[in-house]
Amino acid sequence: MEKKDLRFLWQTYKPYWPLILLAVIGSVLESGALAGLAYIVKNVVDDVFIAKSYEKLYWIITVIITLALFKQIGSFLKGYIYPLVIYKALYVLRNRIYKNLLGAVPSFFRKQNHGDLVSRATTDVERFGEISSTIGTNVITEIFTVFAVVGVLFYRDWKMFIIFLITVPLLAYALHFFGEKRKKYSKKLQEDFSDYLQNLNQIISGFEIVKLFQTDFFIKLFRRINKNLFKSQKKNRFYDVVYLSSVEIIAYVAVAGIIFYGGLRIIKGEITAGDFFSFLGGILILVNSLQTLQRGAINLKALSPVIDRILFALNIPQEEDRGVRFEGLKKEIVYDKVSLNIDGNQILKNINLKIKKGEKVAVIGQTGSGKSTVVKILPALITEYNGEVLIDELELRKYSVSSVREKIGMVSQDVFIFNDTLRNNLLIAKPDATDQELIEALKKAKADFVFELEEGLDTVLGEKGSRLSGGERQRISIARIFLKDPDILIFDEATSALDVETEELVMEEISNYFKDKTVILITHRLKLLEIADRIVVMENGKIAEEGTKDQLIEKKGVFYRFLTISSN
Ligand SMILES: Nc1ncnc2c1ncn2[C@@H]1O[C@H](COP(=O)(O)OP(=O)(O)OP(=O)(O)O)[C@@H](O)[C@H]1O
Ligand SMILES: [Mg+2]
Repeated sequence: MEKKDLRFLWQTYKPYWPLILLAVIGSVLESGALAGLAYIVKNVVDDVFIAKSYEKLYWIITVIITLALFKQIGSFLKGYIYPLVIYKALYVLRNRIYKNLLGAVPSFFRKQNHGDLVSRATTDVERFGEISSTIGTNVITEIFTVFAVVGVLFYRDWKMFIIFLITVPLLAYALHFFGEKRKKYSKKLQEDFSDYLQNLNQIISGFEIVKLFQTDFFIKLFRRINKNLFKSQKKNRFYDVVYLSSVEIIAYVAVAGIIFYGGLRIIKGEITAGDFFSFLGGILILVNSLQTLQRGAINLKALSPVIDRILFALNIPQEEDRGVRFEGLKKEIVYDKVSLNIDGNQILKNINLKIKKGEKVAVIGQTGSGKSTVVKILPALITEYNGEVLIDELELRKYSVSSVREKIGMVSQDVFIFNDTLRNNLLIAKPDATDQELIEALKKAKADFVFELEEGLDTVLGEKGSRLSGGERQRISIARIFLKDPDILIFDEATSALDVETEELVMEEISNYFKDKTVILITHRLKLLEIADRIVVMENGKIAEEGTKDQLIEKKGVFYRFLTISSN
């Protein structure tokens, strides 16, 4: 274990030291009682079986019951309190990771593998808990047991103990050799299982598309994955059994050796039968403890990479929320020589754009020309741009991010619906809204279809809103904007999935309701350009033209071409 791992363990578990102490006391009780039982075997054999003393019998039975009681109290403390401490720690870790994910700088998610992030927050945290649990219940307890039992063994017959020790390296070697093999195949098994899960997930989430293509293809792919899984399971089991048998064979040899040597010493009168059985009992406990320790050691090796993965999730670069509070647009938004380069791709080139308070600006342009990127800069979803974006003469980055986001409402191209009730899907825009407000917002967004849902606002919308049509999802997304009632509005193809008539009704509501607000509207529909005071035409990351509709028509440039193609 490295220093950073120890530091992480220390920081994670330090707050629970009183509980941990209690659990350790449990471990000591259990170990002590076990060693005591091995110790008392001598008296059972010598005083009761051989000397046939009633008095000793009563006494020994009392001792045995007391020891058993201690052992159970110990087992309870250890078996309940270590896991309890771990659950508490996991609870805190999961909260911290979730908070970190939400607070991450947006650029982080663009670079990161999403599945991997989820696995850090789930599987790795749970795995950390499992390994910690092994440390507590196995490693700590068994170390005490080993010490206590070795003490008894030494006391009973140190010569025989030394003979036994000779078999330990042999045992250790076998454990190591087969342990490595076992580890290799158990890792392979995990990987094959994860392939299997991933494949299943993919066909289930994409079932409609999958059905449209060759299902045979998937079946073949799956057969191979499944076969690998089967082979891994088989191999894994084989080495499991070999591992256990090898340990047992060595244990039998050791026991046979002890019986042989011990037998000789009993015959010669050097030790009593009680010494011998007490010793044998101790050895059995010891072998068992060593095996458990070995398993614990294998687990410990896995701890370091798991901690690394958790630390990564805990150290996600966080957005800072400092700076001037944005109270709403007073004058204008100015993009001054803004360019953006992501991984060597020049996505925005020298964007100069001025939007006055209350102005309605439409942005049009070919797919991939950078429209969404330009607007995503405003709510600080993209921050790595060059040049300046001035809001009322102050650079955007000088404002506190949360205050800017509070005042900006954006209906993006990708609608985000989460698998919860319609009510909760709306409340993210205004957590304290009443049902009446929600219904009004839905009405304004022309989302009347929801009133026919049997469970109304309590209807669960399904994963990614799978119970809704594309246009229905868009209207829920628009209803959120009415609830949020922002100062600057951005609509990025917000109504693209609606029929022309519904689209116009929705846009009419929007224009009326947000009459005095600043609006940026990205659209492919010519009809919607009518609500705009000005049109900005984008091409290849640049602003190709801008002006009123008439000015642009007169210019006979990109917009004019666009217009003639569309009207044909
Ligand atoms: N996170 C990203 N990393 C790298 N390139 C990106 C990223 N996001 C967008 N791009 C690229 O930037 C360009 C502009 O994308 P953008 O989404 O702004 O286009 P758009 O004009 O909104 O297109 P559409 O009309 O299809 O929505 C595209 O070429 C796209 O591939
Ligand atoms: Mg776009």
